[in-house]
Amino acid sequence: MNSPTQPSSNRVLNYERVKSDKHSAQLYTRRKPAKHKSEMKMVSQAVLMLPNDEVKTFLDVPCGVGRMSLWLGQKGFSITASDLGEAALDLTKRSMSDAGINADVNSQNIFSMTYDDRSFDATICFRLLHHFSDQQNQTDLIAELCRCTKKYVLISYLSPYSYTSMRRKMRKLLTGKPVKQNPTSLRELKSMFSANGFELFSTVKRSGLLHSLQLATFAKID
Ligand SMILES: C[S@@+](CC[C@H](N)C(=O)[O-])C[C@H]1O[C@@H](n2cnc3c(N)ncnc32)[C@H](O)[C@@H]1O
Repeated sequence: MNSPTQPSSNRVLNYERVKSDKHSAQLYTRRKPAKHKSEMKMVSQAVLMLPNDEVKTFLDVPCGVGRMSLWLGQKGFSITASDLGEAALDLTKRSMSDAGINADVNSQNIFSMTYDDRSFDATICFRLLHHFSDQQNQTDLIAELCRCTKKYVLISYLSPYSYTSMRRKMRKLLTGKPVKQNPTSLRELKSMFSANGFELFSTVKRSGLLHSLQLATFAKID
């Protein structure tokens, strides 16, 4: 393993959503079923587009309470699941072992993971990017995902062009209150991935006109 560079403590401390405590981790296991179902559908659509023979190992980061890891493990991928939240990791360990799936579940700061370069055939980063308003955080996060990945990075993002994103923007303009969800355009994403030698492979949208959540897959340029 590489020796990790020391994470910027601000990045971790500014991010209030680390699921270290049992309560916030438990809440995540009780997400609205329809929302959960449509998010899992996006992931399954994106994963089914990956060439079978190229992807055996998957990194799920941040894994949260392990819903992606569980699904990917059930599909037969070899799973490494990482998060900073202790309670989230405990729940992930438990659900993987209940399902009889052997996974490496461990604590990592996504900005400075201790994995070697190109450790995983594919990496999924679901529902994290939009929590960072600062472009440098987004750039650093993407660089770290690309560093650890041999071939494919799947990343969710919020489109700025959906009704929901526009409504949030209007609310911010009118009330001055900061928004917690920060959109990123596909053009910006492409540019951040291209700086790391990756190109767009596929995109999947969450069903429904109002939703801004999208999932893009980027592939390493050989
Ligand atoms: C919204 S949840 C998404 C979890 C999972 N991908 C899913 O969709 O179910 C975000 C997760 O990011 C984790 N997290 C926040 N900052 C992190 C960091 N710097 N490194 C690793 N995990 C982090 C939180 O603990 C939380 O479990």
